[in-house]
Amino acid sequence: MTDTPIVPPADRPLLQVRDLARAFHVRRAGGFFGRPATLHAVDGVSFDLRRGRTLGIVGESGCGKTTTARLVLGVLTPTGGRVEFEGEAVPAPGTAAWRALRRRMQMVYQDPLGALDRRIPVGQQVMEPLAIHGIGARAEWRSRALELLDAVGLGATFFARYPHELSGGQRQRIVLARALILEPSLLVCDEPISALDVSIQAQVINLLLDLQARFDLGFLFISHDLKVVRQICHEVAVMYLGRIVEQGDPDQLLVEPAHPYTQALVSAIPIAAAARRRPRLILKGDPPNPVDRPAGCSFHPRCPAATARCLVDIPALKPLPDGRLVACHVAHGEAGARPRAAA
Ligand SMILES: Nc1ncnc2c1ncn2[C@@H]1O[C@H](COP(=O)(O)OP(=O)(O)OP(=O)(O)O)[C@@H](O)[C@H]1O
Ligand SMILES: [Mg+2]
Repeated sequence: MTDTPIVPPADRPLLQVRDLARAFHVRRAGGFFGRPATLHAVDGVSFDLRRGRTLGIVGESGCGKTTTARLVLGVLTPTGGRVEFEGEAVPAPGTAAWRALRRRMQMVYQDPLGALDRRIPVGQQVMEPLAIHGIGARAEWRSRALELLDAVGLGATFFARYPHELSGGQRQRIVLARALILEPSLLVCDEPISALDVSIQAQVINLLLDLQARFDLGFLFISHDLKVVRQICHEVAVMYLGRIVEQGDPDQLLVEPAHPYTQALVSAIPIAAAARRRPRLILKGDPPNPVDRPAGCSFHPRCPAATARCLVDIPALKPLPDGRLVACHVAHGEAGARPRAAA
């Protein structure tokens, strides 16, 4: 017997990520002859995700979204921090324990054609995970695949078709059917709709919402599309150079962003000028090279509000009075005086 209170499974987060970090050893410009350097792709990321909920991850290219997803799935080993899935630490990749856990966490990528084998009928590809994991009797695999095809809105006639005979949206439905046949509790979606025709995107989003409700799935949803994030995510985390800089309710964050970086992302959404509440904020320059991450707040070289403190002191991700988390001295009113603009 133990005195530790048992957390009922229903109250336990599906996913708990704490101080997750991944550094890569790379060479600076100059190829083989370039000096070795350390690239901090993900640096101290923490979040929780519950069943039936969606956490969106947004941010510019190279900010560490896919690396975070790969660390969560255990495909990549962290250099710091930890990931717990359904209350258990994710085991080392390639082990039997990891393979067993991977059944419960599936991934959907941007390019459905790349995820499918062009030489094999899609129905067989949907039932393939059952064969790989040795689940159920062979006779049941086909009927289970047909059930999943039905769940993603494709009839039995699709079973014998090949990927090239399908549209982009239909292929992504096949990818979803194949991911869901193992009855996962977590689906990691890395830009799942951005390769699809705009007219198809809404259908696939509705399907994702339908599947989430039906199977009580947790979604980690990586996207560049802030409108879609606002539509489907219960929470959103904004990443900049490997760190979360703002996190909270999408209606709060994407309407009244607190971090100057989120403000810049939101102001880049194409909306009619008349509907825009604040002037458009254009970010100065490209994102810095993650190998040469600026000291202090990484965003300070591009930030219109940076003060002397921002140049030296890394801001902690902590709550504002409205509950959202922000890593910004200025948003917390702790930045001190603005330096006078150069004449
Ligand atoms: N295996 C690797 N070796 C070295 N650097 C890597 C490796 N994988 C990722 N990186 C670097 O880590 C950083 C984060 O990459 P990541 O793929 O996570 O970005 P992302 O946010 O998914 O970008 P995008 O929106 O373009 O998909 C980038 O600077 C990338 O070059
Ligand atoms: Mg990516």
